[in-house]
Amino acid sequence: MSGGLIGRLMRAMHAPIYASRQRVLAEIVAQFLPTGGRLLDVGCGGGTLAAAVIAHPICGRNSTAVGLERAVRGDEPIRVVAYNGGAFPFADDSFDVVLIADVLHHESDELGLLAECGRVARSVVVVKDHVRCGVAAQWRIALMDWAANRPYGIPCLYRYHTLAQWRECMEKCGLDILREIHPMKLYPPFWQQIFGGKLQYLAIARPVKRV
Ligand SMILES: C[S@@+](CC[C@H](N)C(=O)[O-])C[C@H]1O[C@@H](n2cnc3c(N)ncnc32)[C@H](O)[C@@H]1O
Repeated sequence: MSGGLIGRLMRAMHAPIYASRQRVLAEIVAQFLPTGGRLLDVGCGGGTLAAAVIAHPICGRNSTAVGLERAVRGDEPIRVVAYNGGAFPFADDSFDVVLIADVLHHESDELGLLAECGRVARSVVVVKDHVRCGVAAQWRIALMDWAANRPYGIPCLYRYHTLAQWRECMEKCGLDILREIHPMKLYPPFWQQIFGGKLQYLAIARPVKRV
């Protein structure tokens, strides 16, 4: 994590925005975990989102979460497996639900990463990301991306997809979209106006398995 006064200030400003986002996403993902369900959170960051999913009252009892992360922080509330590209260190269909939230726009081989999500998911893959849609979308997302990731030293590619591009990515990776949420209500009022709404996208998809 980047230190210094500016880094601390940015993290403090980001905290209530992140908390609101986490509440919304946890509720959406929790509904797909059955009793004793297994969740994989790809690019889990601090791991608090996955922890909030399995702690949610609508989540199946005794569900567990594992994180897969390029930059393991060491103080996560869930078990995190270090990952440096290529095939995930898990067998096919090992998780009921795979969540990948605001990670794909950080990855140059996004199709490879998304295909791996589908391979290890038995039931659904939940993709949350940004969408280049609306007035000055590229600049608004880039600003949000920079502000949210800079304090943690996470590199940004500043490359964002349109809705049509997301649908194409899902199709190429064998993911059959069951439901999309766009626009999304994710943030507290002021921030929602600037960075929420049409810039936010979530897809719930079923991996189409080869026989
Ligand atoms: C914006 S953060 C999102 C964290 C978490 N998913 C959440 O929603 O709170 C993006 C995270 O994805 C991780 N990441 C980016 N590319 C990755 C990759 N190819 N494999 C695993 N983790 C990755 C980064 O290290 C970072 O922790």
